Amino acid sequence: MPHKIAKIGEPRGRLGVLIPGMGAVATTFIAGVEAVRRGLASPIGSLTQMGTIRLGKRTEQRTPLIRDFVPLATLEDLVFAGWDVFPDNCYDAALKAGVLDKTLLDSVKDFLSQIHPMPAAFDQKFVKNLHGRNVKKAKTKMELAEQVMEDIARFQKDSGVSRSVMIWCGSTESFLKASETHASLGAFEKGLLSNSPQIAPSMIYAYAALKSGMPFANGAPNLTVDTPALLELAERNQLPVCGKDFKTGQTLMKTMIAPGLKARLIGVRGWFSTNILGNRDGEVLDDPGSFRTKEESKLSALEYILQPELYPELYKDLYHKVRINYYPPRGDNKEGWDNVDIFGWLGYPMQIKIDFLCRDSILAAPIVLDLVLFLDLAQRCPEMARKGIQEWLSFYFKSPMCALSLYPEHDLFIQLMKLKNTLRHLRGEDLITHLGLEYYD
Ligand SMILES: NC(=O)c1ccc[n+]([C@@H]2O[C@H](COP(=O)([O-])OP(=O)(O)OC[C@H]3O[C@@H](n4cnc5c(N)ncnc54)[C@H](O)[C@@H]3O)[C@@H](O)[C@H]2O)c1
Repeated sequence: MPHKIAKIGEPRGRLGVLIPGMGAVATTFIAGVEAVRRGLASPIGSLTQMGTIRLGKRTEQRTPLIRDFVPLATLEDLVFAGWDVFPDNCYDAALKAGVLDKTLLDSVKDFLSQIHPMPAAFDQKFVKNLHGRNVKKAKTKMELAEQVMEDIARFQKDSGVSRSVMIWCGSTESFLKASETHASLGAFEKGLLSNSPQIAPSMIYAYAALKSGMPFANGAPNLTVDTPALLELAERNQLPVCGKDFKTGQTLMKTMIAPGLKARLIGVRGWFSTNILGNRDGEVLDDPGSFRTKEESKLSALEYILQPELYPELYKDLYHKVRINYYPPRGDNKEGWDNVDIFGWLGYPMQIKIDFLCRDSILAAPIVLDLVLFLDLAQRCPEMARKGIQEWLSFYFKSPMCALSLYPEHDLFIQLMKLKNTLRHLRGEDLITHLGLEYYD
């Protein structure tokens, strides 16, 4: 029996991409999109640009590109704007970030140097190690939110975009636990008016985005939109949201390897992870408040994947430690070491050593692109938009947001299956279960 095809509006007109935090990740993303548009480079790592999706039975040989299967905006449709506490235009910011080489940046300089960040809604208390002067002034946090909403309205009018999405690529803020202020939209709005110390700048942007009718993604581990208050607003306005913390580097490796160890019932006694990195993100994470937020995000994946409560003999006593060390000579080219103490048959110990010489922003940029395009797809699809949290985008996050009654899914391969099955579901195709018994009838 054919399945129902979900209603999805066509991606007509241009798509605004609004980015709080125009540092290494954001500029690598924007410069990369422009380089791809000009035919200078390939969008490697992006599922929306290069990924395929198998449909039907293995014998049917139907494997379209994802972007031909669901109606996504094209790269040509994207228009960028954002905010930062530093006034550098995107060309200068990208040069300082030191991720992309100058030759590539120069080939898109005319484009990048025209993008100037708008003054930021910023509060030093949440990011101790940043000292910028491109900052908004206001008496209350509500006034700051209103200023951000005015920025959004101005951008939308001047650029003529038909719709927008917002994606936080700003620094990691100090650790915050959800409190009374975040318990409902009413309490949150009171907090904005009374300058509650429980409201971080990223929440002000998320509030402004949702009030302005656009989806919101959170690339950092901050609480941001993951509170009952802002989820209430997202659901009320039927807007997709997702987060938290782009899954790149070491956690990406962890969520590839840990499912494999568990699949073969190999025990893990300890997992020690340490990093050296020297970009601005590393400098911000040198502050214990910001590190705590990151640490919580990085620690949770293993616990959920290995399920020690189901396999106490294999994982109950696992010692998991994560360290991040700010080491300026490395810049954005981080090095992540993992030592994994494992044990097998009859308890015999073994070790795995991973030394990942990765480039953080190179891994993050395609994630930003996919999230922008998939969130836009979700906002054009009423069935998805009214759900608020887009759990099918867990694939991209270290701490995936999910319904309160659930635990997050961290296994990269389950996440990918969930993402692709969601797309199949939207297009009325059979979900793929990999049962495959029918091939032997
Ligand atoms: N690069 C990765 O692989 C990766 C992976 C996961 C998460 N992240 C997160 O993504 C974020 C961006 O990373 P990055 O390497 O680009 O860092 P970055 O320091 O280069 O850029 C962040 C930018 O945000 C700006 N900023 C901070 N607070 C702001 C505010 N309130 N309003 C506007 N701008 C603000 C800073 O001035 C800075 O330019 C960080 O939170 C990082 O932890 C990055």
